Amino acid sequence: MGLFQQFVQLLGFASFLLPVASGSPAGHFLFPRVPEDPSVDPFYQPPEGFESKPLGTILRQRSVVTAYFGELPNPVQAHQLLYRTTATNGSAIAAVTTVFKPLFQKKGPYQLGVVPKEEQAGITTTLEYLIIQIYLANGYVVASPDYEGPDAAFTPGHLEGMVTLDGMRAVVNFRETVGITSKIPMIFGSGYSSGAIASGWGASLQSSYAPELDIKGWAMGGTPANLTGTLLHIDGSPNSGFLPIAINGLMKPSAYQEQLHSLFDRVVTAEGKAALDEAQTQCTTAALNSFKFKSIISTDVQSEGPDILYHPVLAPILSENIMGINVSERPVVPVFVYHATKDQIIPYANAKSLVDNWCNQGVSVKFTTYEAGGHATTDTLGVSDVLKFAESAFSGTLVRGCTKNTKLDESLDPLALGVNLEPLFNALSVALNKLQFKF
Ligand SMILES: *[C@@H]1O[C@H](CO)[C@@H](O)[C@H](O)[C@H]1NC(C)=O
Ligand SMILES: *[C@@H]1O[C@H](CO)[C@@H](O)[C@H](O)[C@H]1NC(C)=O
Ligand SMILES: *[C@@H]1O[C@H](CO)[C@@H](O)[C@H](O)[C@H]1NC(C)=O
Repeated sequence: MGLFQQFVQLLGFASFLLPVASGSPAGHFLFPRVPEDPSVDPFYQPPEGFESKPLGTILRQRSVVTAYFGELPNPVQAHQLLYRTTATNGSAIAAVTTVFKPLFQKKGPYQLGVVPKEEQAGITTTLEYLIIQIYLANGYVVASPDYEGPDAAFTPGHLEGMVTLDGMRAVVNFRETVGITSKIPMIFGSGYSSGAIASGWGASLQSSYAPELDIKGWAMGGTPANLTGTLLHIDGSPNSGFLPIAINGLMKPSAYQEQLHSLFDRVVTAEGKAALDEAQTQCTTAALNSFKFKSIISTDVQSEGPDILYHPVLAPILSENIMGINVSERPVVPVFVYHATKDQIIPYANAKSLVDNWCNQGVSVKFTTYEAGGHATTDTLGVSDVLKFAESAFSGTLVRGCTKNTKLDESLDPLALGVNLEPLFNALSVALNKLQFKF
């Protein structure tokens, strides 16, 4: 029942529409407008000289109206911050985070690694947006960074970790506007699936990159801890469409363009180039359809075939992106890792290795295995466990060391509701993409 109860609560929440006070004549509602593409929206352009500013400096800010399903305006106050952060190669870049102020505040900020900016009205965004409302309803300030940075780079871990940590710094700098009184607020970071790349690498880089932040813990679910493992798991499957997006992501200037561009220029076939170019212009769901059941390690796509994974240019990059193998990058605060054994996109085995490695390195890890549900359902089913973990992290009552548990709780099993939610989520995703919200 958990899932539906949460949704009812949230939709009920949405029906309390309030006039938005600032800048709007009394009695009028502010309606959300379609955001401009970041490539043409001047807000995303960092001002001259931003490179010399400290990490996390707010370069621009604006209030925004956010909406359920891209349509129903939400009375929760929201702001976007453009802030200074760091590309993979160490140079200065700017990224954007969206900060939500809860109607009734408890403590915060609560940092959430979700909502890839390239997908404005897909089912993922809608779901994640509803999940954000759950944290807000619990009284946390919530921040949702565009952790893929200025190039919308999907998958590069170090980039996404740094963008996440600097997003937290930006929120700390912005704290008074969202009602946080403490100068050094407590923070918790959470992300699922590609969001777990952001939270996992945020956790990994915190001690070296942002030691001054008072982060109490991290959660990551459906974690792509090993890109090679994910690639082999979904290659040629209904989810192989993630692969061209991931290759494009790794080839972005803020990621590994310098290293990878000439390699891919050389090996990619005409068919492969067409697939990469197409994925470049598509949101996830469309890209999933285009490259369904195709293989990225096939010689139809690139001349190296499966050997591409061991190519001296690509292999070290893939290895650098494996979470949990570099002891200097181990988390220094407790982490919660959760994963479905039947996850059809991100292999469970890689998450398990991650947990084993971190436990051997002395990291405090709570690992929950979901025996029910798959990748999409665990995103939602995990929320209440993440909330509980965050509460304990904030109150300092987490048990240290490594704990593992398995959940096959009837109430958590979507099958117990009489429906398998995975196909439902997939169908919704296709439907929402066809709808093309207009306002
Ligand atoms: C990453 O995944 C690949 C492919 O499954 C595997 O060969 C390799 O051992 C994994 N690396 C680690 C550190 O787990
Ligand atoms: C370093 O990163 C910056 C920012 O993304 C990028 O513009 C630049 O091309 C990169 N330089 C090299 C040599 O990789
Ligand atoms: C391990 O992590 C540290 C800190 O991020 C980094 O300086 C070092 O190069 C990494 N080592 C390897 C082998 O990647």
